[in-house]
Amino acid sequence: MRISIITLDGGAGKTAIAFALAKDLDYFLISNDDSVIEKAYAGSAKIMKQPKIIDDVVYDFGGFVDTGVLDVIKASDLVIVPCINDLNSKMKAIKTINQLKAHNSNFLVVATRLEGDKDFDEVKEALQNVFSDMPVIALRKTKLFKNALEFGQSPLELEAESKQIAYTQRNILAEYKALLKYVKDGK
Ligand SMILES: Nc1ncnc2c1ncn2[C@@H]1O[C@H](COP(=O)(O)OP(=O)(O)OP(=O)(O)O)[C@@H](O)[C@H]1O
Ligand SMILES: [Mg+2]
Repeated sequence: MRISIITLDGGAGKTAIAFALAKDLDYFLISNDDSVIEKAYAGSAKIMKQPKIIDDVVYDFGGFVDTGVLDVIKASDLVIVPCINDLNSKMKAIKTINQLKAHNSNFLVVATRLEGDKDFDEVKEALQNVFSDMPVIALRKTKLFKNALEFGQSPLELEAESKQIAYTQRNILAEYKALLKYVKDGK
């Protein structure tokens, strides 16, 4: 399976989610954008300006959409668009989907860095106003993804390793597992 994670907005969580999913699915990770992934996921992550199309891979796409990116989007099983609850991020998520929808029809919006139910409702409303059937799922604000990248371990690995993390991060872990399930089962 190929999963692309993309939005024109910076800081919405592309790299955080891409690393977590790639590690937990035991997939490769390819990005066209500089980040710590090659260090955090040594041997399985690669930064390349012209992303190669391979199998069992998560793509983390930063920056503008060029032809190399479009080829990968066309070949992807799922396109994940992370979006935070601010006007700019929502506008850029909508713009990203509009740019890509001729090339792929399987989108999932992940509302990220949520600080309450209102944040989720507002992201969902903004996206579904434009794309009425758009699936939107929630990931609350957390340190889990930052820790995951810094320790080179996935959210599920951190959960398995530490009872404290399993307990204190139980809400985000439940949301993250729902994301994993969606990616695996398409719902
Ligand atoms: N629920 C969440 N989902 C994603 N990221 C989160 C969440 N909560 C907190 N974060 C933090 O928000 C930040 C998101 O930044 P990240 O670098 O992943 O975004 P990005 O879209 O890759 O940005 P850029 O376009 O600059 O590459 C990270 O520090 C991450 O740990
Ligand atoms: Mg990034």
